Amino acid sequence: MSTAELHAACEALAPLLGTWRGPGEGHYPTIPDFGYLEELSFGHVGKPFLAMTQRTRDPQSDAPLHTEVGYLRPQPNRVMEMVLTQPTGVVEIHHGSIEETGGGVVIELRTERVEGTRTAKPISEVRRRIEVAGDALVTEMWMAAMGQPLTHHLRADLIRA
Ligand code: HEM
Repeated sequence: MSTAELHAACEALAPLLGTWRGPGEGHYPTIPDFGYLEELSFGHVGKPFLAMTQRTRDPQSDAPLHTEVGYLRPQPNRVMEMVLTQPTGVVEIHHGSIEETGGGVVIELRTERVEGTRTAKPISEVRRRIEVAGDALVTEMWMAAMGQPLTHHLRADLIRA
């Protein structure tokens, strides 16, 4: 995204930088199970945040599925903030933690607020986990939505492109 030097506040997030691809699987009590292909990119412009872009596709038809864009805002004392927007009308405002693992990083996040447009599906909480270990990245997501309690929705196992 930039030739700028990575901002010191983002140093712990350096293992995320770049583009990652791989398969994922999803489920939720209200819908049939499904598989997907994901591309996830993290970039920076030398400021104290990373930009994140995610796109998913149907493995059979190649049709676009979910996509989202957001910003990771690391704070002192291994605190992480993140904002994310989705074309489904949902905005997630997260607070969480950064754990450096030596060659990798684990980010755990929980929504302080999740908002939807008037017509968005009802979502009251989202939790996310991103783990990088070398050239492997695992994302997981849980949500309380459609009147269901917090339940696992997604896991994707990606490798560095
Ligand atoms: C990898 C990213 C994702 C993929 C591939 C994915 C895929 C799907 C699919 C295939 C469905 C069922 C069909 C549909 O209603 O369109 C679905 C339903 C849903 N997803 Fe996801 N999703 C993703 C991420 C998310 C995220 C980030 C959220 C919320 C923060 C979310 C919330 C929902 C909700 C609320 C439903 C509706 C369930 C229902 O109608 O009962 N999804 N998702």
